[in-house]
Amino acid sequence: MKKHLLFLILCLMGILTSCSQKHTRYYIGVSQCSDDEWRHKMNHEIVREALFYEGVEVEIRTAKDNNQNQIEDINYFIDRKVDLLIVAPNEAAAVTPVVEKAYGLGIPVVVIDRKILSDRYTAFVGADNCEIGKDVGQYIVNRLGGKGKILEITELEGSTPAMERHKGLADALKEEPGIEIAASVDGAWLQSVAGEKMDSMLQDNKDIKLVFAQNDRMAVGAYLSARQRQLEKEMLFVGIDALPGKGYGVEQVLEGVLDATFIYPTGGDKVMQVAMDILEKRPYERDTKLSTALVDKTNARVMQLQTDHIAEQDGKIEHLNNQVDEYWSRYSAQTMFLYVCLIILLLFAALLAIIVRAYWTKNRMNLELSRQKKQLEDQRDQLITLSKQLEEATHAKLVFFTNVSHDFRTPLTLVADPVEQLLEDKNLTSKQQSLLKVVHKNVNILLRLVNQILDFRKYENGKLELVRTNMDLRAQLQEWSHAFQTLALRKHIHFVLDVNDDRTDYLMALDAEKMERVYFNLLSNAFKFTPENGTITVTLSTLVKEENRRYARLVVADTGSGISAQHIRHIFDRFYQMDVNHAGSGIGLALAKAFVE
Ligand code: FRU
Repeated sequence: MKKHLLFLILCLMGILTSCSQKHTRYYIGVSQCSDDEWRHKMNHEIVREALFYEGVEVEIRTAKDNNQNQIEDINYFIDRKVDLLIVAPNEAAAVTPVVEKAYGLGIPVVVIDRKILSDRYTAFVGADNCEIGKDVGQYIVNRLGGKGKILEITELEGSTPAMERHKGLADALKEEPGIEIAASVDGAWLQSVAGEKMDSMLQDNKDIKLVFAQNDRMAVGAYLSARQRQLEKEMLFVGIDALPGKGYGVEQVLEGVLDATFIYPTGGDKVMQVAMDILEKRPYERDTKLSTALVDKTNARVMQLQTDHIAEQDGKIEHLNNQVDEYWSRYSAQTMFLYVCLIILLLFAALLAIIVRAYWTKNRMNLELSRQKKQLEDQRDQLITLSKQLEEATHAKLVFFTNVSHDFRTPLTLVADPVEQLLEDKNLTSKQQSLLKVVHKNVNILLRLVNQILDFRKYENGKLELVRTNMDLRAQLQEWSHAFQTLALRKHIHFVLDVNDDRTDYLMALDAEKMERVYFNLLSNAFKFTPENGTITVTLSTLVKEENRRYARLVVADTGSGISAQHIRHIFDRFYQMDVNHAGSGIGLALAKAFVE
């Protein structure tokens, strides 16, 4: 029962834990090169898109424009055995080897936005920066009417968008001799760096008509720098990214800081879709090109309204998503609660079953016990009745024997006396004399038996008296033993009386008559059951039990058949008879014991 209960609990625990655990099917690592608003938007899109797939865990690490950081991030993902790696490489040359390493280890790699210097990757998602550069060139030509000096602020030199945007621009202006790139500097993607570089460029170059920065951040930096020299109205500022939101590209266009910007799509959702196609083995495009568009005064308002609308929709989706999450966790909690209740219920049921069973067993045992108790009580009552009956029978026997013995004793004494007188008569023939001796002997036996019964009765009634006189036990034993010497000779029995230890005296107060009868009883039994050529030994010795207290010990031993353990327990019981061969009155030994006690 206990085993079953344990098994049940374990099963339920298993169900519970499996219910409460979210199962991760795919672990995707994203290594971003930078940490700015454009990246934040992209990361947000990636994470949101991942919510549409079950069991997808996304971890994003940002290298903060540092190649070494990015190499470590990618190695971190390799060590954690990501199922797919998404990389926006900081500088192509530095990051290419570690990306190749991941790809070589069998990890699918999706390169995004910026490229590496190898084709050892699974897919690419991003805009065509050459084309953007060309579009920018085309815009400049149109805006300046094919004439004027421009400044270029490029991005991090080693990153592919920087190279490609510059190349696209250069290609577009190749056929335009009126447009001159007066200076081109590296702004490292940052507003502050671009601002400083702009300042020094303005020192060296006059009459600048347009400043093109490879992203909006740097374009704003250049604008602020020009404003410090109050030159901002004399030139146009063009950037790339066109991010919606406070202070970003689209708003800068609306506020007249930037003349134009080009959408450089983040496309996080698309990146995630391609990643899932790869993971779930669906067909996918190796090269996914995200499109660009010009944002200037003519469409910036619409663009902002649209992006605001989209942002609002996004917010709603997010809200819905949060609600779904909340419902889901509520559902999980309720499911958990249900299982817990179920467990408690089952445990309770099991407990109840145990209690009922225990109660039932206890009842059954109680019934059995009371049945046994009743049986024992019945047996005890039966025994009491039996022993009462036995006691009564014994009592009746004794009463009868006593009465009969009383009745026998007087006539027996009346027979014994004349016989003794007759035996003293010298005129009897020897034949008459021997016949009389037989009569005398048997009358004495009968008298002894009668006396034994009467004495035992006295003992039972507590009327047996101890009459002590001072005597020498050793001398007495020697005297009492005379009678048995003749018997021993006749029966060819070796009778040894070992009482000759002269150093000890056996002077003591004894009831001589009782002692004699005890001794006679023991010896008569010994002679009765010792065969011819056997030995009977009587030993008298001293026993010191306590300090200053000496005891005499009398042992009568024979080489007869002995008494079995079964009978020896009962030999002092009155009327006990071992078997027909050992029949007697059954009173002699009981009386001897009574005398000794
Ligand atoms: C964001 C960013 C953008 C730029 C792109 C190029 O980190 O600097 O401003 O267009 O990266 O990879």
